[in-house]
Amino acid sequence: MISDQSLLELFQKTLQKTITVSEPRLLYEPIVYALQQGGKRIRPLLLLRSCEAFGGVITEALYPAMGIEIFHNFTLLHDDIMDQAPLRRGQATVYQKYNSNIAILSGDAMFAIACSTMCNTKADKVSYVMQSFSKLSLEICEGQQYDMDFETQNSVTIAQYMDMIKLKTSVLLGGALQIGAIIADASVEQQRAIYEFGVNIGLAFQLQDDWLDVYSNTDTFGKIHGGDILARKKTFLYLKALEVANEYQKQELVQYFADPKDKNIEYIVAIYDALNINKLTKEAMRLYHEKALIYLRQASLPTEFSTYFKTLSEQLLEREK
Ligand code: IPE
Ligand code: IPE
Ligand code: MG
Ligand code: MG
Ligand code: MG
Repeated sequence: MISDQSLLELFQKTLQKTITVSEPRLLYEPIVYALQQGGKRIRPLLLLRSCEAFGGVITEALYPAMGIEIFHNFTLLHDDIMDQAPLRRGQATVYQKYNSNIAILSGDAMFAIACSTMCNTKADKVSYVMQSFSKLSLEICEGQQYDMDFETQNSVTIAQYMDMIKLKTSVLLGGALQIGAIIADASVEQQRAIYEFGVNIGLAFQLQDDWLDVYSNTDTFGKIHGGDILARKKTFLYLKALEVANEYQKQELVQYFADPKDKNIEYIVAIYDALNINKLTKEAMRLYHEKALIYLRQASLPTEFSTYFKTLSEQLLEREK
């Protein structure tokens, strides 16, 4: 198995060749800006490794891996407008650096580029790959709409929240793994198992993202501290806090949450701390991780690769950004 670093270097080289600034400049420059910021590149890594793990040829998955990363970055351009987020990966978000219209249109262009890049694989697999890709694209839109609906919806259950993050985040991780498996000609059962592994890792991944919003500092996380509270996002931390709070704490939480400002972020985090929300979130993450590992075993991968995916998933849940 080649190292993650070598694999990502190969990925990066191909990406740089494919995505360059051309005219009209204000359509393409933000695309290059977003893609050059880097990020963890976890989705292309999952796609490429899944292809390799099921015995496929990595180079046949290289363009779909690029497609998945371009698509992910497109969702972030639009997400940052919807969440009014000023900072991503330690830099100004595209809509802040340029403007919202530019971020919308460059995002649309990225989706188009992602589609054509995704098609650049073995001819007999293209329709299967595109079926998986278009399904998850629509699911992400559904998840993002629920995410916005929940901002103003009075009561949201943790079950509804989990359904929402499955759509907005998990299906992309699952889909990346599934597409890699499709290209490698894995069986339908194996495709399903690796998809479900990714979905459950994705649930834990989004819980960690919510956790980092509160418990990480901006310098390492690259996004602003308490951004979810400012945007009135009903995250796992907030919903769990409401669930375990006493009546008085509940009232305070609701009151501070309704009036998002820096001082109230501090108050809300103090209530989280009093309620041990940090530990409760980590416990929930562990449960989804354990469930993911059951599916990983069902994928019947060679030991080298199941060990690799187990380690990678553990690292994702311990990540600081
Ligand atoms: C951010 O994804 C959006 C979420 C689903 C939480 P990542 O945390 O993978 O972002 P980058 O690409 O590494 O910056
Ligand atoms: C991101 O969820 C999901 C998508 C972009 C589809 P978040 O809104 O929590 O992601 P960040 O925190 O902005 O990266
Ligand atoms: Mg966001
Ligand atoms: Mg969002
Ligand atoms: Mg987030």
